[in-house]
Amino acid sequence: MDKDILLEVKNLHVGYKTHIGISHVLKGVHLTVHKGERIGVIGESGSGKTTTMKSILRILPSNGMIKEGEIFYQGENILEMKYEELLELRRKKISMIFQDPTSALNPLFKIGQLMLDIIKHSYNLEESEAKEMALKALRDAALPDPERVFDSYPFQLSGGMRQRVCIALALIGDRELIIADEPTTNLDVTIKAQVLNLLTKLVRERNVGWIFVSQALGAVRENVDRVYVMYAGNIIEWGPTEKVFSNPMHPYTQKLLECVPKLTGTEFSKGIRGRIPNYFNPPSGCRFHPRCDFVMDECKKTFPEPVEVETGHFVACNLYRRR
Ligand SMILES: Nc1ncnc2c1ncn2[C@@H]1O[C@H](COP(=O)(O)OP(=O)(O)O)[C@@H](O)[C@H]1O
Ligand SMILES: [Mg+2]
Repeated sequence: MDKDILLEVKNLHVGYKTHIGISHVLKGVHLTVHKGERIGVIGESGSGKTTTMKSILRILPSNGMIKEGEIFYQGENILEMKYEELLELRRKKISMIFQDPTSALNPLFKIGQLMLDIIKHSYNLEESEAKEMALKALRDAALPDPERVFDSYPFQLSGGMRQRVCIALALIGDRELIIADEPTTNLDVTIKAQVLNLLTKLVRERNVGWIFVSQALGAVRENVDRVYVMYAGNIIEWGPTEKVFSNPMHPYTQKLLECVPKLTGTEFSKGIRGRIPNYFNPPSGCRFHPRCDFVMDECKKTFPEPVEVETGHFVACNLYRRR
């Protein structure tokens, strides 16, 4: 096993039970994060990004079903971990920052109580030491007047401040992997950039592994080492960020990147005809085939084996398969 690998998701299949049947969302998702590596995950809304991230921490909603696959964290399969091991993993190793900072914070408790609770569960510290650690985390997250924030309820803070609190919580201790799932999507335009700058700065400084799920393609391009492109529950292209952005191979990636007007672009799905398929009865073969301008017969039959088009840059598309 490669010792530098922190997280490895292999062949992940996840579906949801619903009142109208079972949806087959993820179909063989894979993802590798090396120590200290920053990874971007992009793709239209509904492509299964959040489902993948929640599977990693095993926090899927109760109707979510992991049908197949393995998720290794430093060689140990998260999907086989016992409850205590899982708690340990979430408290000390991997943390997650969600799209909605409001629902991530229990409204009944002051920020300080929430932080002390996490710190005391994770580290064997005296009350005063734990408080010092919490204040330092708030200070690191560039929150003005950390003492006041510590004494506030979530509703007393603005959305931007709440997300900074979530970032502070996510960075407590020596985390090895931070998963940020569209961390600025729900924030006001005026503070999106500030919060993103803070997060990217802290991730760089601490040299932690990072999975950045975002529709802000400019921000992804600037801040990650490698990028994965997801479409309808499949990873269809991945590789070093600059290679994928400057030389996108998959027709879906090409469309996705074409729609970005400039670095700050946040919306991109407008330029692609059609929409993400219905997961109750998804298209056969390559799930993109009904929307693809280059569709061939074989695309309707089998999902294409990935091809390495340049070092580390892979694409799963029949256009590039050697015949
Ligand atoms: N709790 C759930 N029950 C049923 N379907 C769900 C649930 N959560 C997500 N889904 C479905 O799974 C698909 C992928 O969603 P999601 O992982 O949130 O995608 P993304 O994060 O890329 O927008 C969507 O079709 C969504 O409706
Ligand atoms: Mg999502």
